[in-house]
Amino acid sequence: MDRAFIYGMSVEGDNFTDRVEETKRLKLDFENGVNVILVSPRRIGKSSIVKKVKSEITSPEIKVVFMDIYDCRSEYDFYNRFASVLMKETATKTEQIVDNIRRFLVRLTPKVSFSPEPISDISFSLGITPQNYQPEEILQLPELIAKEKGIHIVVCIDEFQQIGEFTDSLTIQKRLRGVWQHQRNVSYCLFGSKKHLMVNLFQNRKMPFYQFGEMMYLGKINTEDWIPFIRSRFKSKGKNISDEFARRICEKVENVSSYVQQLAWNVLAQTTEDTTEADFNAGVDALLAQCSGLFEEQLRGLTSHQINFLRAVCDGVNTEFGSKAVLEEYNLGSKSNISRLKSSLIDRELIEFDGEKVYIEDPLFRIWFRKTKRL
Ligand SMILES: Nc1ncnc2c1ncn2[C@@H]1O[C@H](COP(=O)(O)OP(=O)(O)O)[C@@H](O)[C@H]1O
Ligand SMILES: [Mg+2]
Repeated sequence: MDRAFIYGMSVEGDNFTDRVEETKRLKLDFENGVNVILVSPRRIGKSSIVKKVKSEITSPEIKVVFMDIYDCRSEYDFYNRFASVLMKETATKTEQIVDNIRRFLVRLTPKVSFSPEPISDISFSLGITPQNYQPEEILQLPELIAKEKGIHIVVCIDEFQQIGEFTDSLTIQKRLRGVWQHQRNVSYCLFGSKKHLMVNLFQNRKMPFYQFGEMMYLGKINTEDWIPFIRSRFKSKGKNISDEFARRICEKVENVSSYVQQLAWNVLAQTTEDTTEADFNAGVDALLAQCSGLFEEQLRGLTSHQINFLRAVCDGVNTEFGSKAVLEEYNLGSKSNISRLKSSLIDRELIEFDGEKVYIEDPLFRIWFRKTKRL
């Protein structure tokens, strides 16, 4: 079925809009073996753009391999994911996966379950452990494969900030960089959402991955690019939305890609023929209702001081939380409490801190919070 709007998963084809410049640049980097670090807030479109570039690279000499490590909890979790995706994605046929493993991971006897094609649905566990493989041997795999097959491999790792959460992370990062930086036939595209973590991994002079590659910040898609997209998707369903309402959809959610699509879908669902004010408002209410469960969950267990702090940020207070006026107006407790409040909310990813100012990144959370948590 052709869905008009898609959110909550990476998008492609007709559901992918704009990003012309970024796509071109990323493609050029991939084709020329340049390492890239791609950073943006969540739900803006990192995974989508990397997959799009992957699909656009058709040269048989370049193989783009995509892995997501959001659920890897330890160093060897990561090596297992790394190796199995490499084995799978550098094979063109199912049987080749086994050949790959026999060839490149000779000390393993893997359990591959051969479900029917397509190749992406095949699952297997390699069982790499410190007893059978050294980290360096696994990290060197893409270079070995690339040389053997006479290709260039681009390894894309989604949610890379996860590495920073491993026990003994710094040692692991040194290992990775130590091996990867000498590879001639492999380049890397490392990307993730949690900005403070990503920035710390890559822009801190003391960290192993400092200056590993070109930093690319993925910005939001402009309203002017969204409007024709939204209008044409409405049209494909036999409905009509004006420039004005399409614009308001973008503005309401500050152009966060996934919310734009979700809100557009809600408004489309309300629209009979031409979008009206009532359709638009009902679409916004539906969006808030859809997200409220998640937002309530994020607030679970917060103290009243923490809630009050969020209230202040929602009202536009960014600095000076320790000032007498702010402390009193928002009932934040004592001044000495402020930095603890702040860091606890950053840890919970409810607020962001750019070194100067505190802010809430999620525009919908802000709207929802003001509406429901106002005393
Ligand atoms: N180029 C795009 N065009 C249209 N919608 C997009 C685009 N990129 C992202 N989106 C929307 O944002 C959602 C999240 O995209 P995703 O690539 O998963 O973001 P990220 O990896 O940054 O969290 C998608 O499901 C889609 O609704
Ligand atoms: Mg993603």
